[in-house]
Amino acid sequence: MTKLNSSFMIGNVEIPHRTVLAPMAGVTNSAFRTIAKEFGAGLVVMEMISEKGLLYNNEKTLHMLHIDENEFPMSIQLFGGDAEGLKRAADFIQSNTKANIVDINMGCPVNKVVKNEAGAKWLKDPDKIYHIVKEVTSVLDIPLTVKMRTGWSDNSLAVENALAAEAAGVSALAMHGRTREQMYTGTCDHETLAKVSKAITKIPFIGNGDVRSVHDAKYMIEEIGVDAVMVGRAAMNNPYIFTQINHYFETGEELPELPFVKKLDIAEDHLKRLVNLKGESIAVREFRGLAPHYLRGTSGAAKIRGAVSRAESVQEVAEIFSTIR
Ligand SMILES: Cc1cc2nc3c(=O)[nH]c(=O)nc-3n(C[C@H](O)[C@H](O)[C@H](O)COP(=O)(O)O)c2cc1C
Repeated sequence: MTKLNSSFMIGNVEIPHRTVLAPMAGVTNSAFRTIAKEFGAGLVVMEMISEKGLLYNNEKTLHMLHIDENEFPMSIQLFGGDAEGLKRAADFIQSNTKANIVDINMGCPVNKVVKNEAGAKWLKDPDKIYHIVKEVTSVLDIPLTVKMRTGWSDNSLAVENALAAEAAGVSALAMHGRTREQMYTGTCDHETLAKVSKAITKIPFIGNGDVRSVHDAKYMIEEIGVDAVMVGRAAMNNPYIFTQINHYFETGEELPELPFVKKLDIAEDHLKRLVNLKGESIAVREFRGLAPHYLRGTSGAAKIRGAVSRAESVQEVAEIFSTIR
């Protein structure tokens, strides 16, 4: 196994472990980010924030910017389709929040986003990527990173896009091994990630896509050559994955899986943190969508999921969970 320095640098920000919590809209608010951080995520990334939402002082957008004092280092991801808007938004983040890093979303595949030239739309033109990164870095003292996919409809521009971002001055690059067209189908394109990893020589390259276990992380780091792994969906089922991956790279030992009851404890703790952040009514509603991830693989999960999807209070969730403890 590869023994690695556990920390790495993104610009002047020290990231204590080679694991990153992926930005996930509707999921990576401070409630979940602090959980991921406690389980060892080296860096956590906020759910994507609309550049326009900041510009118009949208109340919901401003609420999303809440950062907990226990989650540093953390990064705020912006999405937007034009240089002026993204520059203004990046400047706002730097001046009004304690974020350590600003990230630009160049991967979001959904129509609502790409039709505004944002998200994965950037991937069609490496010159545009170069330009936007140059513009946004010009207003920032803190590091700028980019998260992209391998391409729009194929992977032919993956290396060029990555090199454009690197040349224009990003401090790290994350890439999800799927094209926009693939959405979340198929498997992660490791071959393209390996090519990009080889091409990017000046900044850390963070590999993303289908990392569900220590073995997947080991493959990304040892075979693909990434500097760190970014974990999304697997963390929603098992935030302990960050501890498992860190521990493996620091000691060579594999930790056992968490017993199911521990996952229920994490789920209930997650709900408690959401209540603190958003109040009980919104928290319970949001938790209905999050609980199935924690419950995956349990016998009788469908029945429990159904019950949680109708729950109205923390007390009700606790009662439902007590039937499977
Ligand atoms: C519910 C959900 C929301 C997501 N929201 C974002 C987002 O706001 N910004 C972003 O760059 N990627 C977003 N993604 C993509 C993830 O960051 C990640 O690239 C993708 O899930 C692949 O990684 P995984 O296989 O570890 O899940 C989202 C994914 C999911 C499942």
